[in-house]
Amino acid sequence: MIVPIALAQSKELTYSIHIDSLPTLTFDTSVVVVTNPTVAGYHLDTLMSKLSATALHVVSVPDGEGYKTLETVEQILNECFEYKLDRKSLLIAFGGGVIGDMTGFTASLYQRGIDFIQIPTTLLSQVDASVGGKTGVNNRYGKNLIGAFYQPKAVYIDPTFLETLPPREFCSRDC
Ligand SMILES: NC(=O)c1ccc[n+]([C@@H]2O[C@H](COP(=O)([O-])OP(=O)(O)OC[C@H]3O[C@@H](n4cnc5c(N)ncnc54)[C@H](O)[C@@H]3O)[C@@H](O)[C@H]2O)c1
Repeated sequence: MIVPIALAQSKELTYSIHIDSLPTLTFDTSVVVVTNPTVAGYHLDTLMSKLSATALHVVSVPDGEGYKTLETVEQILNECFEYKLDRKSLLIAFGGGVIGDMTGFTASLYQRGIDFIQIPTTLLSQVDASVGGKTGVNNRYGKNLIGAFYQPKAVYIDPTFLETLPPREFCSRDC
């Protein structure tokens, strides 16, 4: 199923949510996949088998809400510079809401903004956090206090990624 998201402000901001098994994705540019060791351990091989790009890199950041910080964003930015991404490069957020929020925010900052796509892997991120363009990080004053509205170019929701979620995450910590 494809759900088009048409944003009133600009046609350029329009994107699609693809709900299906993850298709093969080919990019004529450099791509950095941002993920964490937990998600990578379960699913990175599957993702990499579906991706092709001019250059393909993986940045793995520590897992957890406590790492949704400017420091982690700076780590991702530094790795993007090391990989010499340019303004046509693409970030892929591969993980839950924490990864999605940080990757989107990083994309909004790198060279004043590059494209990103969301491949969410938790229930919360598939039904909520990957859509709508809210990106950002926490600081010592509170949650999500630093950020930007920045829309993804596409969202790919493959429900089979949810099969490895611990039961508590499957019900979004509400059970
Ligand atoms: N941008 C938005 O609109 C929006 C909306 C709601 C929530 N959020 C944000 O989302 C974050 C919470 O997201 P979350 O609940 O996805 O938490 P999360 O990203 O921390 O993921 C929860 C845990 O599940 C693990 N995980 C992810 N995918 C997995 C998989 N397929 N199999 C096994 N383990 C997996 C993660 O590594 C992590 O340990 C918060 O920071 C919140 O502020 C953003």
